[in-house]
Amino acid sequence: PLIDRIFNASNFEKDLAKKLGIERAIIVPGNSDRQERVFEHVSEQLESALDLLLPLGKNIITVLGGSTVAKAAEHFSPKLNRYRELLFVAGRGALGESVEIQSNTIAQVMAAKTGGKHQGLYLPENVSSEALDILIKDPNIANAISNIYNSDAVVHGIGLADEMAKRRDLDVITRSKLREKGAVAESFGYFFDHQGRLIDRVPRIGLQLEDLGKIPHVFAIATGAEKAPAIEAYMHHAPKQTWLITDEGASNMVLKGK
Ligand code: G3H
Repeated sequence: PLIDRIFNASNFEKDLAKKLGIERAIIVPGNSDRQERVFEHVSEQLESALDLLLPLGKNIITVLGGSTVAKAAEHFSPKLNRYRELLFVAGRGALGESVEIQSNTIAQVMAAKTGGKHQGLYLPENVSSEALDILIKDPNIANAISNIYNSDAVVHGIGLADEMAKRRDLDVITRSKLREKGAVAESFGYFFDHQGRLIDRVPRIGLQLEDLGKIPHVFAIATGAEKAPAIEAYMHHAPKQTWLITDEGASNMVLKGK
């Protein structure tokens, strides 16, 4: 069963977790750059890991955005909600990207698949920090944010810098500056270079990277050989309790660069 599989980490998984300085790595077969079915395994592993780690009863799970987390939601089942009352909260506002991969939608999909509830954070993220300061005082938004900070678990992706700069609708000059400075990863509005050095930061609403360490269970979901540098870069900043769910495509690349 999958639970045994999670308890018994393979040597590759142990090496990967050690190299990235995190609690656990789960490696599913394949390379998602070429094989779409990888996401099915990722989804199953995420569900099992949540089932293993989350306490029974009421739970708040904050979900961030992106295509990987969106696909990871697809194979969730009522199993997770059987002895729990789950609330899935959107951990970020809306980027100018397609609706399917926004955290509001993913929280809704996870709630529908499990029979849990969801709470949205219906705000655009691409606004000035002054505007964000005003928006977070709205009572509904304040309530969602308070739930985010009281989460039992967070599920987030790790983005490719260039792709995320486009999705966040950054202007051409900012984008070329990011490239020039060697940005490879984006997560929680931060852009990092290969060594994990901070290149730039965009104001964002919802969960901040600085506060991730206070959340008991953190799941980073990122797959595909192409994402290997982004995974390595981000993991310099990941809290220790992070569990990475990835595939052979990404993990082989990360482990090769020892
Ligand atoms: O912040 C991380 C990104 O949202 C990840 O997006 O899974 O579509 O690459 P992605």
